[in-house]
Amino acid sequence: METSTVLTACVLLAVALVLRILSSLKRVNYLPGFRCAFSPNSLWGVILPTSYLNPGLNWYWEWRSSVYEYYGSRTISSVSLFGNPVIFTASAYVAKQVLSGNHAKFFKSEESQAGTRLWGENIIASNFDVYKRHRRIVGPAFSGPTYALVAQETVRLYSEMMDGEHWSQKKQIKVDSMNKYLSKFALGIISRCGFGLSFPWIDNSDGHEMSFEKALTLVTEGFILRLAAPRWAYMLPIKRLQEVDEAYNKLALEMRKLVASRKTELASDTAGSSSIGNDLFTRLVSAAEAEGKNGLNDDELIGNVFSFMFAGHETTGHTLSATLALLALHQDEQEKALQQIQEVLPNGRVPTLDDFPNLDKVAACFEEAARLFPAGFILHRNATEPIMLHLSEDGSRPFVLSPEVTIVTDMIGIHHDPELFPDPERFDPSRWYGVQESDISFFGYGPRACLGRKFALTEGVCVLSLLLRDWKIDPNLRDGETKDEWRERVLQGGMVGLAFGVREVPLILTRR
Ligand code: HEM
Ligand SMILES: *[C@@H]1O[C@H](CO)[C@@H](O)[C@H](O)[C@H]1NC(C)=O
Repeated sequence: METSTVLTACVLLAVALVLRILSSLKRVNYLPGFRCAFSPNSLWGVILPTSYLNPGLNWYWEWRSSVYEYYGSRTISSVSLFGNPVIFTASAYVAKQVLSGNHAKFFKSEESQAGTRLWGENIIASNFDVYKRHRRIVGPAFSGPTYALVAQETVRLYSEMMDGEHWSQKKQIKVDSMNKYLSKFALGIISRCGFGLSFPWIDNSDGHEMSFEKALTLVTEGFILRLAAPRWAYMLPIKRLQEVDEAYNKLALEMRKLVASRKTELASDTAGSSSIGNDLFTRLVSAAEAEGKNGLNDDELIGNVFSFMFAGHETTGHTLSATLALLALHQDEQEKALQQIQEVLPNGRVPTLDDFPNLDKVAACFEEAARLFPAGFILHRNATEPIMLHLSEDGSRPFVLSPEVTIVTDMIGIHHDPELFPDPERFDPSRWYGVQESDISFFGYGPRACLGRKFALTEGVCVLSLLLRDWKIDPNLRDGETKDEWRERVLQGGMVGLAFGVREVPLILTRR
């Protein structure tokens, strides 16, 4: 009797599972792909390491050169026992249909944007009419005066970093990780040119009160914790949680004060905008004020400024780390970039925004690093209704994207596609010579592609020009390690903080 009840339950469970899998297979249009335990888009999928049963978060990198060939398609699916079915595409052709497709029919789902929405509604996370309103005000803030400021502040922060780290007097510097300096650098630039707040390179606050930089760093680092921890957990005596909580509150308070003071400044600025900052935040407040009640409220202003930090800090920092790692391995490319820098910036002149077009070989190094390690690596979209897409450019092989399935654009896959980038693992900056800024694909496709591209490129070109002008960059090898072994060890990608990037990069900088 007992045994038969258990048996019946088991059979029912098995039938339910089989039915679920069959319906999932149908929902992904029987596209080939992973048949696994956990969906790569589920919590367990992300937490557990990449393996045959669990592609996880790192399959995009680890399986980049084989997975699409293996399944015979650049658009594949995942059907799992736990979690929702997902479609992945590493076909630029399919990605463009989704990302440049009808704005009213594709959107970023709530789940995929939980992180970006922590501080309130913003341009990255929103959709449809709300998005249009944010875009109308945020879009124009990204323009020439801000990029000129980015160039200027990059030059300033570079010399503060050299002095602060006592590198100015040194002939040679050996670091185990260049990443922490470049990440701090990118945070400094976002903070100055995004928020209009500058913190000194060396934090000399007395330790009683949390400094702005500390708060900003804690917020970025504690971000996953903040997402995962339930509200009541903050009552527990867990130091880390309380620190993160304090940092959030500190920043929220500072931002509110900042909105108020910018409004006062703008109101009293009768002489025109000459004395007012060109940072994104000031420009946003000014545009929002001009729009009146169709503009953005204070919470939305703050939400947007934080979204710039989310989108612009680690992405730029990781790309810079990857660029230096690759240039350390490719001395010929380093030499080419250096030659251009010496031509464009003779006698120690520092770069300005006007030099940007002439430093295209430096930009190409940054761009090639961003191709190999695209920081914005997975782009999620859902459809509002079933939508017909085509796998092949000749319009054949149609499939229907169901509204119940998320489609993920795999930017690592696209940027390692041998059809688009022959010999994809090779570092070859010349791929980017003469490519229009609007055609740079690692910033995304379509109307929602990166708004901060010029911001990131300006910062990248300026800081690389200064670094390469002053220093010869080499790999910091372990005892007996060859350059190839260093490459194997260091040039590996993964999630670093909130964005995809290269691991710790150990370098030797020798003064030129
Ligand atoms: C190398 C650095 C960067 C990379 C690789 C990068 C990549 C991307 C990508 C791929 C998207 C499209 C996301 C999607 O379609 O789902 C995006 C959007 C965005 N990025 Fe960047 N980004 C970088 C730097 C920045 C910086 C420095 C800022 C701001 C200062 C920024 C602000 C934004 C914003 C606001 C959006 C959303 C645009 C919209 O939805 O209309 N990004 N970025
Ligand atoms: C988006 O797709 C996922 C399936 O991957 C589904 O769970 C979710 O409900 C969809 N979101 C919306 C808002 O339709």
